[in-house]
Amino acid sequence: DWVMGDYISEAVEHIRKQVGDEEVILGLSGGVDSSVAAALIHRAIGDQLTCVFVDHGLLRLNEGDMVMEMFARNLGVKVIRVDAKDKFMSELSGVADPEAKRKIIGKEFVEIFQAESSKIANAQWLAQGTIYPDVIESAGKGKKGAHTIKSHHNVGGLPEDMHLKLLEPLRELFKDEVRELGVALGLPREMVYRHPFPGPGLGVRILGEVKAEFASLLQRADAIFIEELRNTIDEASQKSWYDLTSQAFAVFLPVKSVGVMGDGRTYEYVVALRAVQTQDFMTAHWAHLPYDLLGKVSNRIINEVRGINRVVYDISGKPPATIEWE
Ligand code: XMP
Repeated sequence: DWVMGDYISEAVEHIRKQVGDEEVILGLSGGVDSSVAAALIHRAIGDQLTCVFVDHGLLRLNEGDMVMEMFARNLGVKVIRVDAKDKFMSELSGVADPEAKRKIIGKEFVEIFQAESSKIANAQWLAQGTIYPDVIESAGKGKKGAHTIKSHHNVGGLPEDMHLKLLEPLRELFKDEVRELGVALGLPREMVYRHPFPGPGLGVRILGEVKAEFASLLQRADAIFIEELRNTIDEASQKSWYDLTSQAFAVFLPVKSVGVMGDGRTYEYVVALRAVQTQDFMTAHWAHLPYDLLGKVSNRIINEVRGINRVVYDISGKPPATIEWE
């Protein structure tokens, strides 16, 4: 619509004025905010923007390839993909404590991003997908001494010692406006309306020690769950169960239980499914998914993901449970 068209031309104009002929770097995470920021800045200054995409190996199934396809291939954005899977796995090796895992992932992320961006000669700007609620939230931090339940990590939290000027073109927008802008800039609707995904990724959905083998099992189970949620339409609302839930994902439990397959006995891992409905993610209800949907997802995971022989559904509200398991 033309209102969004006007907004885009104004924003583009503003970015061009700010940046001039200088170079900009942006940490792309695959999330909505950094993606929309990248698309908008690219519209304004083209190849003066370089995106750095740190793939920690804890993304959803095929997500790294999808990010590259969307930005590098479809939109023609310059993206440096850093395959840091092995580095993250080795740093996380032997670490089971949730907070310790979060800290390691956050720290590695920043270090790798910094190392990569320092190779980009004469970058003067660091672009971030900060949106209005982030601005409000960080303004309130420290004032009320709010205690931290989980140390959050996202690509936004980069260090000040990079000596770069900040470019934050989404600072005045709410999430729904960011999504509309993303669609208007040509990002796929499906991508822009995705459920939120935590910065530490599957690192907080593999309980205890993270291993590459666990990540692979979890990615496949999670992809089946999401596919079935997208494909199952609720009669009454004519919406998919993906759209009827605020967040849904699989969790890997490093616990083995006994099962049967054919004539044999199996002794394999467990996957938990989590689906919640919420307005603000501060409190949440577990979603009353149809039994048929749960049954189908369970069958498919057990049949298709060798190594998983049991699927359970999480029926805990927040509070007292949190949405993520770690
Ligand atoms: P919890 O588990 O605290 O999660 O109920 C609330 C929401 O926050 C997301 N989450 C994160 N997002 N970095 C993020 O960007 C993080 O470290 C992180 N930890 C949790 C979670 O997915 C849910 O939407």
